[in-house]
Amino acid sequence: MIKGPGRLDANALNFSGGPGVLPARVLEELEEAIRSAPGVGLSILGVSHRSDWFAELVDQTERDLRALLRLPESHAVLFLQGGASLQFSLVPMHLLRSKEQTAEYLRTGYWSAKSISPAHLEGQVRVLWDGEGGGFHRLPRPHELKPAADAAYLHYVSNETVEGLQFHWIPGRDDVIRVCDMSSDFLAYPFDPTRFDLIYAHAQKNLGPAGVTLVLIRRALLERAPADLPAILDYRAHLQARSIYNTPPVFAIYAVSRVLRWLIEEIGDLDRMCERNRRKAERLYSVIDRYPELYRGWAAPEDRSLMNVVFRLATPEREAEFLRQATQAGFSGLQGHRALGGIRASIYNAMTLVAVEQLAEFMEEFAAKG
Ligand SMILES: Cc1ncc(COP(=O)(O)O)c(C=O)c1O
Repeated sequence: MIKGPGRLDANALNFSGGPGVLPARVLEELEEAIRSAPGVGLSILGVSHRSDWFAELVDQTERDLRALLRLPESHAVLFLQGGASLQFSLVPMHLLRSKEQTAEYLRTGYWSAKSISPAHLEGQVRVLWDGEGGGFHRLPRPHELKPAADAAYLHYVSNETVEGLQFHWIPGRDDVIRVCDMSSDFLAYPFDPTRFDLIYAHAQKNLGPAGVTLVLIRRALLERAPADLPAILDYRAHLQARSIYNTPPVFAIYAVSRVLRWLIEEIGDLDRMCERNRRKAERLYSVIDRYPELYRGWAAPEDRSLMNVVFRLATPEREAEFLRQATQAGFSGLQGHRALGGIRASIYNAMTLVAVEQLAEFMEEFAAKG
């Protein structure tokens, strides 16, 4: 008999690929803020984005983010809308408007593949590495990449959410603009943000609910952006307006601020966050490796993601049975992405070790039953 989640509630056992799990403490704070935001006395859903309170919230959120990442003033922080998908267009619109230049892309999975077509509308594109021939089971090794010194920029996705492939090194050249979609592993581990010229990450994995996307951009890049961009699509307009160009998603930004406070006050820093994420991922991958006849990990072991543990079972029927029993035991969100099928356990920052332990035990018991 599967032990079942017992003391954990449904939110704690939400292994969804995104929008993902949020810390229990943040959910409580949001519940309270929907009734009455601290310091305002009104529901957060009715707080004016033109209020001093909201301007201070944006500033404080930026300060917390800078502190966590040790992000210097060389980089601006923007809170934008349109999801990571809008960034697939805004990046080439800002950085690839000259037809003589070529942008380089790493095509390592579902989301990086999606990021490429909008770039074709702006200029020339070279796919520097394409994982499709290998079925997107692995990432390139450093010696397989020959990035050009004269590329407009190099774009890659640090964590392929669908396939569960994560870069554990930084590709590209330090003398070429490096752009990274960190939507599904932002703030999961420490890294040097100054090696990146532009980072974007939507909130709905590690930061909060959908609705806000963070963009960290080296200020010097903004000087070269074309002059004819519509203001709503121009990073400079958002920077000048301190991310309050038009009505921003006040609630989503408030949630991000609470998640950052949780990370700082309860976890500590990105080293500790990473340590916790490693323990969670190792626990699940160790079950996969112990039962190779039942569970087949998708990613090459060197490229395994700390955020999305993707695996298949021998047949679609076994996968359906796994999901049926998992649902019965209280787990949710384990179905693989529609493009890939199989199983995906997303264990974003807010997923607890206790919840992962319960999933690991469930997987062990499922395997033991044969
Ligand atoms: C790595 C990555 N990039 C981009 C996207 C697209 O994000 P959005 O739906 O915010 O446009 C996703 C969606 O899950 C993702 O995981």
